[in-house]
Amino acid sequence: MRKTLATFMAAGLMVGGVAACGDSGSGGGDDKITLGFSQVGAESGWRTANTKSIQDSAKEAGITLKFSDAQQKQENQIKAIRSFIQQKVDVIAFSPVVESGWETVLKEAKDAKIPVVLTDRAIDSEDTSLYETFLGSDFVEEGRNAGKWLIEDSKDATETVNIVELQGTAGSAPAIDRQDGFAEVIKDDPKLQIIASQTGDFTRAKGKEVMQAFLKAHQDIDVLYAHNDDMALGAIQAIEEAGLKPGTDIKIISVDGVEDAFKAMVKGQINVVVECNPLLGPQLMDIVKKVANGEETPKRIVTEEGVFTQDQAAEALPNREY
Ligand code: AHR
Repeated sequence: MRKTLATFMAAGLMVGGVAACGDSGSGGGDDKITLGFSQVGAESGWRTANTKSIQDSAKEAGITLKFSDAQQKQENQIKAIRSFIQQKVDVIAFSPVVESGWETVLKEAKDAKIPVVLTDRAIDSEDTSLYETFLGSDFVEEGRNAGKWLIEDSKDATETVNIVELQGTAGSAPAIDRQDGFAEVIKDDPKLQIIASQTGDFTRAKGKEVMQAFLKAHQDIDVLYAHNDDMALGAIQAIEEAGLKPGTDIKIISVDGVEDAFKAMVKGQINVVVECNPLLGPQLMDIVKKVANGEETPKRIVTEEGVFTQDQAAEALPNREY
């Protein structure tokens, strides 16, 4: 019943303007909502915190959670979504590994009248009827904030500033958007030059490996822009093993704001962290209840976040929640 009403409302077909069935209105019946959630994987500290937030919040909200880990593979997410459709869950939520290639499976969910919520990452489809809402950060703005910090930090530099970029998972929304936002801002200062850019897949191991390759290929790296903290933390190991001082010989800009990154900032190894908040669980559960009950939600809900520099790190560290 819940699904039928949600679909009518999403299509703008009001049934007499009132919830037509006894247990479907907000504050309605006592049958539990079942949420199918397909997670990207467990690639980073951010992701671990995000998973915990979703699992804890579902429990607290009394929502039955069917959780599936895609191990960073799109085909696993597609399989999980199809399985949720077969199980006739009330709502499907997922954080897409990559931006493209979702139309077919999301049309299947739509045909089955199961509302879909995007969390954390967007898809690049123009058909916005395939999902109810997208809850998550503005990754382009995060990239811009990283670039703005660098413009300010290097305003007195008289020579070229050589930047290497550790990108997130190829084809993922945060990798594409953080690259774009950063490039958009630094293009205004011609002395800021990206000399190498490669994916480190958002993991520590890959971050270290790619940084080792950057260090071998370039003797003159001034700045590392890492699309997440795990890659920055891996890169720090590579920089130290090369006999250089992270944060001093090579300045480091990172994204996320996990506890380990704050500890690295306190030690002077990371210069600035652009926050990306993974604690989306409570908001997601509110949205799930709404869409399950056929209520309207805004099409885009942006997470609020800040920028932290080394001088703020020690004071902020005890209050970090992830
Ligand atoms: O989609 C959010 C990104 O994914 C985080 O920045 C990163 O750490 C994670 O793996």
